Amino acid sequence: MAPALFWILFFPATVFSFVVEVSPKNAMFRVGDQEEVRCTMKDCAHTPEFSWRALEDRPMYVKTTTRGSESVLTYESVKRDHENRLICTASCGGDSKQKQATVKVYSFPEAPVISGHERLVLGKDATLSCKVLDVYPGQETELEWRDESGVLETHRGTESMRTLELNVTVTPTREGRNITCRALHHMRGVPAERSSIQTTVTLSVPYAPIEVQLSGSDEVEVGATLTLRCSAVGKPLPQVQWRGPQSAGQWLQDEGGLELVVHNVTHANAGQYECQASNFLGQSKTSLFVIVQGPPRNTSLTLSPRHPIREGESVTLSCRTVSVPVGEVRLLHDSKGKMTKMLSVKGSEINFTLPAAQLNQSGLYRCEASNDYGNQTNSTQLTVTAYPLQVELLPVGVVTAEIGSTLSLTCQASGCPLPQLSWGAPSTEGVLRGNYTEGPRSELSLKVNDPAQEGVYTCHARCGSITASRQTRVNLFSFPSVPIIERSGSQLEGGVSTFECAVTDVYPLESFRILWLYGEEELPQQTPPETTLTPAPTLTATLVSSVSMVMKLSHLGHPLTCQVELQMEGVPSGQRRRSAVTHIDVHHPPRNTSLTLSPRHPIREGESVALYCRTVSVPVGEVRLLHDSEEGVMELLSVKGSEINFTLPAAQLNQSGLYRCEASNPYGKQNNSTQLTVTAPPRNTTVEVLPSQRVMEGENVTICCRSISFPPPIVTLTKLGNGTEISSWSGTFLLTNLTPSDAGDYQVNFTNDLGNNTQVFTISVMERRLTPSRNWEELLIPAVVMGTTLAFAALLLDYVFRARRKGSYELAKCNPSTA
Ligand SMILES: *[C@@H]1O[C@H](CO)[C@@H](O)[C@H](O)[C@H]1NC(C)=O
Ligand SMILES: *[C@@H]1O[C@H](CO)[C@@H](O)[C@H](O)[C@H]1NC(C)=O
Ligand SMILES: *[C@@H]1O[C@H](CO)[C@@H](O)[C@H](O)[C@H]1NC(C)=O
Ligand SMILES: *[C@@H]1O[C@H](CO)[C@@H](O)[C@H](O)[C@H]1NC(C)=O
Ligand SMILES: *[C@@H]1O[C@H](CO)[C@@H](O)[C@H](O)[C@H]1NC(C)=O
Ligand SMILES: *[C@@H]1O[C@H](CO)[C@@H](O)[C@H](O)[C@H]1NC(C)=O
Ligand SMILES: *[C@@H]1O[C@H](CO)[C@@H](O)[C@H](O)[C@H]1NC(C)=O
Ligand SMILES: *[C@@H]1O[C@H](CO)[C@@H](O)[C@H](O)[C@H]1NC(C)=O
Ligand SMILES: *[C@@H]1O[C@H](CO)[C@@H](O)[C@H](O)[C@H]1NC(C)=O
Ligand SMILES: *[C@@H]1O[C@H](CO)[C@@H](O)[C@H](O)[C@H]1NC(C)=O
Ligand SMILES: *[C@@H]1O[C@H](CO)[C@@H](O)[C@H](O)[C@H]1NC(C)=O
Ligand SMILES: *[C@@H]1O[C@H](CO)[C@@H](O)[C@H](O)[C@H]1NC(C)=O
Repeated sequence: MAPALFWILFFPATVFSFVVEVSPKNAMFRVGDQEEVRCTMKDCAHTPEFSWRALEDRPMYVKTTTRGSESVLTYESVKRDHENRLICTASCGGDSKQKQATVKVYSFPEAPVISGHERLVLGKDATLSCKVLDVYPGQETELEWRDESGVLETHRGTESMRTLELNVTVTPTREGRNITCRALHHMRGVPAERSSIQTTVTLSVPYAPIEVQLSGSDEVEVGATLTLRCSAVGKPLPQVQWRGPQSAGQWLQDEGGLELVVHNVTHANAGQYECQASNFLGQSKTSLFVIVQGPPRNTSLTLSPRHPIREGESVTLSCRTVSVPVGEVRLLHDSKGKMTKMLSVKGSEINFTLPAAQLNQSGLYRCEASNDYGNQTNSTQLTVTAYPLQVELLPVGVVTAEIGSTLSLTCQASGCPLPQLSWGAPSTEGVLRGNYTEGPRSELSLKVNDPAQEGVYTCHARCGSITASRQTRVNLFSFPSVPIIERSGSQLEGGVSTFECAVTDVYPLESFRILWLYGEEELPQQTPPETTLTPAPTLTATLVSSVSMVMKLSHLGHPLTCQVELQMEGVPSGQRRRSAVTHIDVHHPPRNTSLTLSPRHPIREGESVALYCRTVSVPVGEVRLLHDSEEGVMELLSVKGSEINFTLPAAQLNQSGLYRCEASNPYGKQNNSTQLTVTAPPRNTTVEVLPSQRVMEGENVTICCRSISFPPPIVTLTKLGNGTEISSWSGTFLLTNLTPSDAGDYQVNFTNDLGNNTQVFTISVMERRLTPSRNWEELLIPAVVMGTTLAFAALLLDYVFRARRKGSYELAKCNPSTA
């Protein structure tokens, strides 16, 4: 306005009657704003006319409005293209005047935009970026980073720049800080209030709670108030929770938050208190142990083991208290109304052990605990009882032991864990005095070899102050062997025998009895049993009893028993009775001696025959088998005993004959005999002509026919071709006074029941003139006689021949036949 006014003052209206003004003349428009440029005419009597023109070769992009004396260029929204120099030409009546207006444009957004500060990490360098868009003209704008300490970074744009960007590197800290990005426009004409614009961000890093601290007193008296405070740092600011001895492990969000107050503290409030601070990044906690002080409590006195204690057992008295602060505990014993202090310690516990409780240690025990705030007692009753000691002695009742055996007695104590056992015995033999064992069982084992060991045995048991005993009587016996029977006197039938039964090493004598049994029948005792004491040390005896009997044959083989009985209780039944048996034998000479053949009938030669020779003889003596043969008496066999079996596996003819069995013993002899007959058909026949088969007429010949055969064969002499037969038993034929007609072949036939055999021979007779006529008839007679008289025949024949031809003639004799 001032220049316009100046113009009005120095140029008269007549020359230039109207005035033209543009406003603003030098416009500085911000991009985007709505702006106007006015051209005003004053003092024009006419209707003013306006026209606008741009000096720079660019369209104006503007709306023109003319209202009366004013023309307005309206920029709806300023753009950079609007920058120009404008000429407003105003006409009034024919006159026109021009005014020039300069439009300058700048661009400067509302605020710089900061990025990169959203996700900061504590301690880790981060780049923050600050950006301004659409700046114009670039060379007139500048960016700077600053904080409370001043400018950190600056950056000035260039002409072409439309966007300015400036980075700064920061190190985020837990404290946080404000950082500012400021944009400056240095172009002249930009209003001061618009030449600078800034954005500030707070660099804040969230972190988990730290430095959690619990403060308050950790010692509090019962009934007082407990106050605890918790503090913590963290971003975001942590929340605080509490946990205490009474919160059952749960975290409590207290109303008070940072402070926990417990009124009227009790012991239950003692313990660990925890404060936990947490935010979304985590939690942290701290704790404080709070002690509640007061008089002792929970004072107890307990026994271990709990049950009534047996004498000698160990028992522990445990006296305990809970005392804060720790004070003193005492253990006292109330014995018959008088309290005695047993132990007193600084602390809260006493263990007092009675290693072997005595009966008089029973009674009331008291545990006293005290500290600065008060005292408390507790008591308990200790009962010590004696063991119910019981003793058992085995075996029960009277014990019977055999001398020589080992006596075993067992003492068993019960009702006592460690009894002491000892033994009392009638004799110290084998038992040591004062011998005792610890333990529930004691075994007394001793070799019984002395009757002095008989008597009462006692087992003494002790358990603490209690004693008990048991006894048993031990009876001894000895009956080790069976009786022995011995016989004396005559054993011969009709004589008197004495049987003596002796049993040795018996004890006790009065309990023994001896019986004699003949078969089943008891014999009267003939003499009272005698006893003989065995010399010391055994002190046993030998018991003897005897019976006498007249020997009869009827006694033979009968059993005679000597039975010894021990009549004593407790002796095992198998050892109560022992007996000896003898079978009576009655002596006699051999009897019933027999000799038999088998088979019995006459035997054929070669068959087997057995001879059985037997006798009955007590005592057994000797038997002999004899054969009476032609060669004499021959002993076939002789044995000690009463029997001979003799077998002829193939009987021979010469084994025929009389056989004799002869039995003998010291009392006599007996014989029996039998005839053995062996038969055979004629064989080994021989015919002998004596003196020769060639004789002179008138001479005599003897024909000797021999065979081996039984029974003896009939020998028949036949002149062949003639048929005259002469039979003979003896087999000897005498032909006298032979004539030539007697010459010829002769046949001898041997025949018995079993068969026959034939021999042929020839006789030749040499003629002699002086030959007496022979009489065959005369010769034949004896043979016919002989046919009936068997054994006699030969003799008779001999006799006949001798009688008829007595004198110088000697009848040739045949050698004896073997048959
Ligand atoms: C600023 O930092 C951003 C992100 O780190 C990056 O993209 C940009 O190029 C940086 N600008 C300058 C001028 O260094
Ligand atoms: C950051 O700026 C805010 C607002 O002006 C202020 O309240 C705060 O204290 C500042 N912080 C620091 C760390 O200077
Ligand atoms: C504390 O306990 C006593 C006894 O039980 C009671 O009388 C008193 O009121 C209690 N005080 C508070 C603050 O609870
Ligand atoms: C007492 O006995 C208990 C249980 O046997 C044991 O735990 C404790 O340590 C003992 N105390 C002392 C002081 O001997
Ligand atoms: C126990 O405390 C009572 C009072 O509470 C007191 O009379 C007594 O003397 C105390 N006993 C001992 C042994 O301190
Ligand atoms: C002793 O303590 C036990 C348990 O600790 C309790 O039951 C009893 O009542 C107490 N006796 C006395 C006489 O205090
Ligand atoms: C007790 O007697 C048994 C058998 O009689 C014997 O073995 C043991 O040695 C004895 N002990 C003592 C201590 O005398
Ligand atoms: C003899 O023979 C008889 C009967 O064959 C027989 O019983 C007996 O034992 C025999 N004796 C001898 C001593 O061989
Ligand atoms: C031989 O014994 C038999 C039977 O035993 C008897 O018949 C016979 O008479 C006895 N002979 C002699 C000679 O003893
Ligand atoms: C009987 O004859 C045979 C041969 O023929 C002979 O071995 C045996 O010894 C004879 N016997 C006698 C008793 O002469
Ligand atoms: C047989 O011979 C005997 C003696 O040589 C003679 O005496 C007898 O007459 C004869 N008999 C016949 C029938 O030939
Ligand atoms: C023959 O025997 C007869 C009668 O016995 C006798 O008389 C005669 O003298 C005997 N002859 C001779 C030669 O011996």
